Amino acid sequence: MNTNNRLRIAIQKSGRLSKDCQSLLKQLGIKLNLREQRLIAHSTNMPIDVLRVRDDDIPGLVMDGVCDLGIVGENVLVETQAERQRNQQPSEVTKLAKLDFGYCRLALAWPQELGIQDKDWFNGKRIATTYPEILKQYLEKEQIEASVVMLTGSVEVAPRAGLADAICDLVSTGATLEANGLMQGDTILESNACLIQNANLNDDDKLSLINKLMPRLRGVKQAKE
Ligand code: PRP
Ligand code: ZN
Ligand code: MG
Repeated sequence: MNTNNRLRIAIQKSGRLSKDCQSLLKQLGIKLNLREQRLIAHSTNMPIDVLRVRDDDIPGLVMDGVCDLGIVGENVLVETQAERQRNQQPSEVTKLAKLDFGYCRLALAWPQELGIQDKDWFNGKRIATTYPEILKQYLEKEQIEASVVMLTGSVEVAPRAGLADAICDLVSTGATLEANGLMQGDTILESNACLIQNANLNDDDKLSLINKLMPRLRGVKQAKE
């Protein structure tokens, strides 16, 4: 548990969501000095600390109460929840808001030269992914017997490197698939960034601070519409 009396928010240190997270915190009126390459940034005008970590670590930090809030893609949240449920670890969070950035799809893809393929093609194939839990649930549902190769990065080069026949990875603009000669297939999950809260948070000061921030968040979202 975060016994610190300052509200702790986990955001992605560097990656697709980090810029939007930083500007969201700014629009909420949270003043931060993020210039220093530090793990923790203390707000200068509110009792808030911002932790900058790998996106994959954010759901776990919030589920375990190390951080009170987190901004993370639904893709990472769903994957972590499935993994933790299987390991009987705490996996609950309170979803406070769906944010209007970070949209992407988790999709299957394979080498373009193979042409269009249907689901049956995947039987007996190896699929590389960073999202083994989500992929396995999909394969089970579709009754596809494929093996899953877990890679934490560079998934898009796996077919060319001979590590897998196909991949299941995030697609945003499609540039990565294009650059690697991959053709996009079925979407397994659609994802947006979301704001999550530790499910057992019961510190009155922190809860009232969150209650003060939420209308501002709604204001920011409305202003963009
Ligand atoms: C994803 C994915 C691709 C890229 C696709 O990585 O793994 O590398 O985005 O985007 P594109 O379709 O616009 O080319 P991301 O940076 O989201 O996640 P990661 O840093 O956690 O690997
Ligand atoms: Zn990641
Ligand atoms: Mg990537």
